[in-house]
Amino acid sequence: MKQFFILFLLISVTIVTGYYLYENRREVPIEEVFPGKSWAKPIPSLPDLKGVGAPTAKNCGNCHTEIYEEWKLSTHANALSDVQFQSELAKSSSPKWICLNCHIPVQNQREMVTTALRGGNYFDPIEVPNPNFNPEMKEEAITCATCHVRVDKESHQSYVIGGSGGTSPPHPVQINREFLKNRCNDCHNETYTLNESLVCSFQTGTELKSTNTDKSCVSCHLPEVKRSFVKSSLHRPVRVAHKHGFIGGGVPKRFDLYKDQIRLGYKPGLVLSDFKWENEKILLQLQNQNANHHVTSGDPERFYRFVIEGIDQYGNVIYRNESKVGQEWEWSPKAKKISDLRIPNGETFKWELPSIPKSNLITKFRFQAIHVRLKDITSDYMIQSSNAVPETYRNKVKQIKEIYPHSSIVIESIYDVKSKSRKDTPLESLFKRNEKRRGE
Ligand code: HEC
Ligand code: HEC
Ligand code: HEC
Ligand code: HEC
Ligand code: HEC
Repeated sequence: MKQFFILFLLISVTIVTGYYLYENRREVPIEEVFPGKSWAKPIPSLPDLKGVGAPTAKNCGNCHTEIYEEWKLSTHANALSDVQFQSELAKSSSPKWICLNCHIPVQNQREMVTTALRGGNYFDPIEVPNPNFNPEMKEEAITCATCHVRVDKESHQSYVIGGSGGTSPPHPVQINREFLKNRCNDCHNETYTLNESLVCSFQTGTELKSTNTDKSCVSCHLPEVKRSFVKSSLHRPVRVAHKHGFIGGGVPKRFDLYKDQIRLGYKPGLVLSDFKWENEKILLQLQNQNANHHVTSGDPERFYRFVIEGIDQYGNVIYRNESKVGQEWEWSPKAKKISDLRIPNGETFKWELPSIPKSNLITKFRFQAIHVRLKDITSDYMIQSSNAVPETYRNKVKQIKEIYPHSSIVIESIYDVKSKSRKDTPLESLFKRNEKRRGE
């Protein structure tokens, strides 16, 4: 009887561990782990496009010259070379293949194809080399094809998705303006908790919807311009076209990109709707007039810093106060939103400062609104952990303080106590200054 029992026990243990091992090694399809998630898989491999060749931005740029040049300056075109992205991608806590699905979203851009997840574990992807890998296209990050090229299910040929119609391109085209308009949400409107410390929290699409407007992301981030869709030597008519700079919060990815921000459509979401000094009190009001989503939106680490300074007749700053508008998150041990003071569309942030010390000596007040994308302590940390970053980007991460804009001054106004009037600094002068600023 005793032997029998031991044998029984042995068999059970074998079956249980066998099953456990099988489940752990089983190749689980990606859609079983992330059902219905567009970011769980790249866009299927795109064959050469008739009349164009490989569907690279560079090739599109042979004819769509102006669009290509604008796009090259965009955050989209820099979404892989972004040093902050490279630094975060190198963290052992990042499931790299998932990050790449939004930052280099077409299969042609991937050296390896993720076919399944071992045991359903997203840290254990099964990857095979991609025979259609195009290294040039990889560097293009969020390239034209992300939004504009797909494979036809029947003919298996690539075609271009357009929004206008009535054009005669040398490449196949299907018109689907709704698709192009809604495409933004696939990446900019995603809330997903992967694990305790990895939370994706982008709600720009939902914020826009809650403002009950007929505007779309395109209305503001691809401003209309009358011009030919292609270079002039192709002799095509002038039409309603769209600038492709995808300007956002006014903190570009490199210092040399500052000079094009305003030309490509930058304007702050906030307007300084009131600024005065009355009854020994400073009153400031900032209204979200220009963004049909919260300010700030997107990345939870973005925020606005408001600074007010009192200046005496000799130009010395003798008073200073600060306030912050943004989200506050705690990232470890568990990702958690602590507070959210962002300004929804149409709403106003009121800032009142009574009992200013030595106010009789103050001749001017200077107000600044600074959009911060990266804090100094975060870039300090990136430098410390830069040895984990692949060689191509390691030195860039080490030099992050010098080469990566952390913040921009986007509003400045000077209030003169005597004349009770204010003077706003033009945006152009601020952006010249931003090009030379460093740090938070
Ligand atoms: C050999 C030149 C050439 C190349 C290369 C080219 N296009 Fe075009 N494309 C055109 C012309 C010409 C038109 C039509 C312009 C017109 O009639 O006003 C056009 C039209 C378009 C339209 C608008 C269609 C509509 O009606 O809304 C889109 C979108 C477009 N192209 C995207 C692309 C993309 C993306 C690529 C690269 C994958 C690309 N094109 C490569 C020449 C080219
Ligand atoms: C669902 C699509 C999606 C996935 C998946 C994704 N990202 Fe992003 N990422 C975005 C979008 C959209 C932005 C732009 C947000 C903004 O500008 O505010 C962004 C911006 C960033 C930025 C720049 C932040 C800034 O303010 O400059 C970094 C760094 C980054 N992502 C890292 C990662 C890493 C690391 C992963 C994987 C763990 C990842 N992303 C996965 C969509 C995605
Ligand atoms: C495949 C995913 C994807 C799609 C689709 C997408 N974006 Fe993005 N977008 C990103 C990522 C990732 C970033 C940030 C890259 C970084 O910071 O390195 C970004 C950045 C931006 C920024 C710049 C923010 C800033 O302050 O620099 C704007 C504006 C923007 N996207 C608007 C749009 C609009 C409008 C659409 C739709 C027409 C769109 N995006 C579609 C992934 C996407
Ligand atoms: C993030 C998505 C996205 C990316 C990336 C993108 N476009 Fe577009 N594109 C759009 C949207 C949205 C429209 C406007 C559709 C509409 O409402 O008519 C558009 C319009 C166009 C048009 C029609 C003319 C016009 O200006 O309206 C052409 C041509 C075009 N894009 C070419 C390109 C090329 C070439 C690239 C790469 C250099 C590119 N696009 C990158 C989203 C994108
Ligand atoms: C009514 C115009 C408007 C519409 C509609 C709009 N945006 Fe914006 N967006 C802005 C302005 C203005 C800013 C600059 C806000 C700031 O930083 O002051 C901005 C900033 C951003 C940023 C950078 C984050 C930030 O806080 O600065 C991203 C990313 C972005 N928009 C994406 C989108 C997407 C995606 C949509 C559609 C779902 C969209 N926007 C719709 C005007 C608009």
